[in-house]
Amino acid sequence: MALLDVNHLDVRFALRRGDVQALRDVCFSLDKGERLGIVGESGAGKSVAAFSLLNLIAKPGYIANGSHIVFDGEELVGLSDRALRRIRGHRMSMIFQDPMMTLNPVLSIGEQMIECLKAHRRISKREARKVALEKLQLAQIPAPEARLDQYPHELSGGMRQRVIIAIALLLDPDIIIADEPTTALDVTIQAEVMALLLDLCEKQDVGLILITHDLGVVSQVTERMLVMYAGRVIEQGPTREIINNPLHPYTQGLIQALPQMATPGSRLNQIPGSMPSLDKLPSGCAFHPRCPFATLDDGRPRPGCRDQVPPLTGADARQVSCHMVAENKPVQADQSAPAKEAH
Ligand SMILES: Nc1ncnc2c1ncn2[C@@H]1O[C@H](COP(=O)(O)OP(=O)(O)O)[C@@H](O)[C@H]1O
Ligand SMILES: [Mg+2]
Repeated sequence: MALLDVNHLDVRFALRRGDVQALRDVCFSLDKGERLGIVGESGAGKSVAAFSLLNLIAKPGYIANGSHIVFDGEELVGLSDRALRRIRGHRMSMIFQDPMMTLNPVLSIGEQMIECLKAHRRISKREARKVALEKLQLAQIPAPEARLDQYPHELSGGMRQRVIIAIALLLDPDIIIADEPTTALDVTIQAEVMALLLDLCEKQDVGLILITHDLGVVSQVTERMLVMYAGRVIEQGPTREIINNPLHPYTQGLIQALPQMATPGSRLNQIPGSMPSLDKLPSGCAFHPRCPFATLDDGRPRPGCRDQVPPLTGADARQVSCHMVAENKPVQADQSAPAKEAH
């Protein structure tokens, strides 16, 4: 059984004008020590997915009935806040884009780390300080002893995010969920911080769910990936297979938009249009207004694209939701075989 199993995750925001469905039927799993990437343009639902794993969706958001998040054999949906505290930060921790979502500006780094350790473990202040120091060293923070007494505002952005990584590792979690962990940093620092995060996850055998709009990063560092569009997973599978042979036209568009795919001197091949707003989703496949294949060569609409949501189909390991892909797929032997006559 996978360490984390997410099934039919459905998250909604109860707004005055009605419910907005931010995630629809999102399913994925993560094995121990595995690295999973979640990509998609801004507004795809990546952060909502990350937050819901630890039930950090704030009102008016809620996880709808029928959703399942099973971690280490335990259903997390519906658990009390108190029960969730055993898991949050402890067995699954989260790194946000903005370090100040985690850091308290009025406490020194050492105070926050010690407080966090003491909240979860029976440990003396002295021991806690020792553990905090070890984790800062692990995160390759220079002069770690001095850092313990510093306040968040005294650190550079890169150093703050290293501290966040140290805090994420503080209680030896099984999984780190990192939501755009380097997006707010200078480009030169981004690669360094990402390398550190990966190195530590690998060495400590911590699973990683890496959320980013940057397909380039996901292609380099994850083993499996999900591509999200308008609240749904539209393609998922082993990262290398998807990068080498993307099936969904949206994934194809994302790959063609990568800077390394551009011919020098030419413009990047951006996907035309933008992600629809969730309360004004197009009918059928939400991607159809931007999809080059939703219209046939003779100008007629491709059957299905405008009026039916394509189901996510394929073997468990490699799935895609696209009418065109489903059309072109050879019929599977067991489906084409005539049904046996009953006697
Ligand atoms: N607090 C909220 N209230 C209402 N809708 C929200 C809220 N947070 C997120 N959403 C909806 O969920 C969508 C996906 O958001 P998000 O997960 O943050 O996207 P991203 O993929 O960029 O991380 C938003 O476009 C919005 O429609
Ligand atoms: Mg986000």
